[in-house]
Amino acid sequence: MTNKNLSTDSYKGVRDFYPEDMAVQQYIFSTWAKTAESFGFERYDASVLEPSELYKAKGAENEEMVNEQTYTFTDRGGREVTLRPEMTPTVARMIAGRWRELASKAPIRWYSIPNMFRYERMQKGRLREHWQFNCDIFGVNDVSMDVEIIALAYQIFKNFGATDDMFTIYVNNRATMQLAYQSLGITDAQTITTITRLNDKKDKISGSEYLEKLNDITNDSELSTTIKKMIEAEDSGDNAVVAGLRELGIKNVILDRSLARGFDYYTGTIFEIKDTSGENNRTLCGGGRYDNLTSMFGNDAVSGIGFGFGDVSLRDFLETHKLLPDNLSFTTAIVVIPMDEALNLEAQKIAKQIRDKGISVSVDAGKKRVGEKIGRASDKGVEKVIVIGENEVSTQVFTLKNLKSGEEKTGSLLEIIV
Ligand code: HAM
Repeated sequence: MTNKNLSTDSYKGVRDFYPEDMAVQQYIFSTWAKTAESFGFERYDASVLEPSELYKAKGAENEEMVNEQTYTFTDRGGREVTLRPEMTPTVARMIAGRWRELASKAPIRWYSIPNMFRYERMQKGRLREHWQFNCDIFGVNDVSMDVEIIALAYQIFKNFGATDDMFTIYVNNRATMQLAYQSLGITDAQTITTITRLNDKKDKISGSEYLEKLNDITNDSELSTTIKKMIEAEDSGDNAVVAGLRELGIKNVILDRSLARGFDYYTGTIFEIKDTSGENNRTLCGGGRYDNLTSMFGNDAVSGIGFGFGDVSLRDFLETHKLLPDNLSFTTAIVVIPMDEALNLEAQKIAKQIRDKGISVSVDAGKKRVGEKIGRASDKGVEKVIVIGENEVSTQVFTLKNLKSGEEKTGSLLEIIV
């Protein structure tokens, strides 16, 4: 044993949620949940522990994530276990497990707000634990579903008070890209996957470095230049999802052929949403359509489309654009303030009677003077206080003061709290 005290810091890359942070987190979660439910999505959840093979199976893999970013360990029974780095393989597993009953109810709309773990290099907007709002629609592969899921992501921004100029939706399509590569003579699926993975890193490297790496794949400098031009070409307005979103009145959406996404499982539409301010470079929300994820469980392939929307970059976005409401902290409706410590227990009795009427109430049993306690209640946004002195206790006549309006009500406890 050493005498060194333990650090009060949290583990590297994860956050403690002190009450003021929890208040923001709750606000984010409830806005997410309400928006999903307004589109008819049902909530599900699962354990953070998954067998590691779920992320290694063919079709599910994201090499960088599986090899470098997962928290994986062997349990006491010798099983390899991973703390989930994303929710999509889990939800695909759950859907596959019940597809026989669910098939007739398609489209299945599910959402969840799980935490996930990635051993990432820490930077603004990227931590080692984050919560991620996941919305997915299963069983109907139709453009209108792609439009709906992106319209839902858009509505989240609206419900946080964002305006269209604050964010942009980028859309691309893996199947269309595959055809485009094929038309350039690239037919090998693995080569297309390798190019797609490189495209996903494109923003992090210079144009010349990108071309160099592309050359390493194609061994053809002319072809590489053609590919670069093709993915950088302007939106020609021929993407049905982009057109559908514009029909819904969503204008801050563009087709971006350089958009790749990091997961191999996407097969159709892919999309990402980014902050326009330049303050937050990390993607706020990303997703797409995946046709084959359920087939790794031996089932029929069920088509799904969905997205993940993280709490870390969202909070940065809300702070940058000053969209977080003041005073999100939870307060009780009433605070009972004993005039001195001798009345603390008496105050508890009074609070209990108020609580029994279904009203939230706390007792300020601190050592401060009454005036300071009232000030503290007011700062927290508490609406009403009842000050208890010897007199109130003996007469059972109390005064309820409304801190917002200044109004006062005097009478028996039941008279003043209704
Ligand atoms: P993803 O792009 O890896 O997609 O993550 C989605 C979002 O989660 C990101 O845009 C970001 O907001 C947040 N996020 C990811 N990693 C971190 C991190 N290390 N720290 C903080 N936030 C992070 C997926 O995970 C797909 N499974 C989404 C999906 C659902 N696709 C279809 N359905």
